[in-house]
Amino acid sequence: MTTEFAKRWPLPVLGILMMVLYLVPIKQATAATAGQEIFQSKCAACHTIGKGKLVGPDLAGVTARREAGWLKRQIKEPDRLIEEKDPIALQLLQEAEDVEMPPPEISDEEVMAVIAYLKSTEKLKNVVVGVPSQYMPTIIISIIALFILTIIGLMVGRKKVDVR
Ligand code: HEC
Repeated sequence: MTTEFAKRWPLPVLGILMMVLYLVPIKQATAATAGQEIFQSKCAACHTIGKGKLVGPDLAGVTARREAGWLKRQIKEPDRLIEEKDPIALQLLQEAEDVEMPPPEISDEEVMAVIAYLKSTEKLKNVVVGVPSQYMPTIIISIIALFILTIIGLMVGRKKVDVR
């Protein structure tokens, strides 16, 4: 019995590994998709991502350009940054010809989702044309999982031969 188990332990271990590999990118993709919806409804009136300035600045590359803590505050409470005379906020205000970004009605969770979405538009941008980049991790992991499944299949197949 124990030797039997010793032979078979790689199967459950690989299975668990696969589930973990699957869940991580799915969670990221879900957050980015939720963020995309929030962006469309709460931000797109004033911002584009890579299509130029509207009322507010083009947000392409903003997660690389700005520090994470600052970005959260700019999205959640842009008025406070201006009140505190934050140098970047003041410069943005000047560039926007004194039009202030009104503080959106947005929860901390939604802020994180929007940031995940903004990030997803930057990562892997030009890798595959036509596939929204937030789905890329899922696709890549699916391919890896299929590969692992094939290996498991081969291992199980070989076990049967061993028994005979
Ligand atoms: C009514 C128009 C308006 C809406 C709606 C709006 N913004 Fe803004 N946003 C601006 C303006 C104007 C600025 C620049 C002046 C300032 O910071 O107040 C700005 C600045 C920013 C910046 C700083 C950009 C940089 O280059 O550092 C970020 C990030 C940003 N907005 C994100 C968002 C997000 C995310 C939302 C949706 C939750 C949103 N904005 C909704 C008008 C808007």
